[in-house]
Amino acid sequence: MTETIHTLSLCACSEGDILPLAHLPATAGPSPFPAHGMASRPLPDGNRQWRVGTCLHDAAGIARLKVTGRAFLPPAALRAEGPHTQICPLLEALTPIEAGTRTLAARREHWALAWITLSDKGAAGLRNDESGPLMAAQVRAALPLCHEQGFMIPDDPQTLRSLVAELALGQGYDLILTSGGTGLAPRDTTPEALLPLFDRRLPGFEQAMMQASLAKTPTAALSRAVAGTLGLTIVIALPGSRKAVSENLAAVLPALGHALDKLHGDPSDCGRA
Ligand code: MTE
Repeated sequence: MTETIHTLSLCACSEGDILPLAHLPATAGPSPFPAHGMASRPLPDGNRQWRVGTCLHDAAGIARLKVTGRAFLPPAALRAEGPHTQICPLLEALTPIEAGTRTLAARREHWALAWITLSDKGAAGLRNDESGPLMAAQVRAALPLCHEQGFMIPDDPQTLRSLVAELALGQGYDLILTSGGTGLAPRDTTPEALLPLFDRRLPGFEQAMMQASLAKTPTAALSRAVAGTLGLTIVIALPGSRKAVSENLAAVLPALGHALDKLHGDPSDCGRA
């Protein structure tokens, strides 16, 4: 676990407020927003340092702010000079904060989970998302999480591909689970959307899911569930019904923690595990 120290000037905010953490020039005046953070020096390597789930701790070790995403803010919104839009990490206030300058230590522990439910009806507000919360609960019971977030999108490959790329490479989620779109219906295109994104495919995860599923039902053969890595993220596409989600996830959960450790560079000797 690495720790970096940041000096931030913060406006007062209440618990739950979201602050866009922007790098503003020293001359920038007070922010127009009631809840707004400024880094007093340039933001370091955004991808590594501001992965979702990173917490900023005060001198007493209390987590005051947590990175929960990022936004693209134009200079006018930030009252900044110059023509460039800034990529601002979004910080959620975990406790009420008074205005002032703080020196905070950024640390990241545990894993960040995003789950994506693919459903035309769900995205149109015509159906509740049952499989998303189920996936999250199942992972939560097996892995320590620092952050989790659900998404609901239509069965559209472009939307899925751009969301997964943003969550993995832009926001730094460790694990992304999708549900639905692995079958044979005309709009089942999850594998086609995800395969071009993968750096490395995880055939063992795919086989484990299929093996466990065929032991439950012969219709498992219709699933084209895939798994792979993208940057430091493991992406697993699960079939969409509640039963299918739960059975497929159960097949890979026992290996997930070790897989994430290894993907993040754990040098330990596997033979001793
Ligand atoms: N796998 C398991 N373990 N359990 C199931 O009930 N359902 C199958 C299959 N995989 C199922 C399963 C069915 S009926 C279909 S159509 C495919 O997953 C594809 O589902 P999807 O299109 O919702 O992704």
